Amino acid sequence: MRIMAFNGSPRTRDWNTVSLLEHALKGAEAEGAETEMVHLYDLQFSGCISCFSCKRIGRKQTGVCAVQDDLSDVLKRVAKADALILGSPIYYGTETASMRAFIERLCFPYNSYAEDGHCDFGRTIPTAMVYTMNIPEEMIETYGYTPHFNLTKRILSTHFGPCEMLLATDTVQYRNYDTYESAKFDGNAKKARRETAFPADCARAFELGKRMAMPLAG
Ligand SMILES: Cc1cc2nc3c(=O)[nH]c(=O)nc-3n(C[C@H](O)[C@H](O)[C@H](O)COP(=O)(O)O)c2cc1C
Repeated sequence: MRIMAFNGSPRTRDWNTVSLLEHALKGAEAEGAETEMVHLYDLQFSGCISCFSCKRIGRKQTGVCAVQDDLSDVLKRVAKADALILGSPIYYGTETASMRAFIERLCFPYNSYAEDGHCDFGRTIPTAMVYTMNIPEEMIETYGYTPHFNLTKRILSTHFGPCEMLLATDTVQYRNYDTYESAKFDGNAKKARRETAFPADCARAFELGKRMAMPLAG
């Protein structure tokens, strides 16, 4: 069982998204899985360039993205993975630019344009999206994020397999709210949240990782 996690935050140490992904992978390892973390911002790659090589009649392989860059080897490993966990901060109501580019390159080559609309991945594996965001949970509906979350969930479900969603809200954006312009936020409340709610989010991520390492029912 090989589980891959993808960190869509430019921050690769200690911060919200990467911490949750690390806990998820630890949970998976506790169930005996081999794991790999890919930091998308460490790689040079683009989104889909619409070359349609992956749809060409008579192509030698299906599911392979023709673009050659730092993502090429990563995508080869995805083809053999048994579970995928995508993690991203929310930037302007959606995943970060790198995560969006990654999703295009990850999914489109497997998206068959054949009449039956089948998926060329060929296996059903568990997937998960881990989102971190500044807004508190009760503002998610007000800000209209849910349709977008559900859309990404559907994309992963239809290309690979059932998708779990883990949301960590009201995250700390920087360590010291006195050093940055922060009048909109209560720095002490943020600090308290980091000390109480965030460890609970990490525990949820650990449990998610354990579930990802279990064989899918049916
Ligand atoms: C450019 C930018 C845009 C952001 N936009 C949003 C947003 O639309 N909604 C939100 O709740 N948080 C927003 N945030 C806050 C981050 O989503 C939040 O702090 C996240 O937990 C950061 O993840 P990280 O610590 O893993 O980098 C934004 C942060 C940045 C830098």
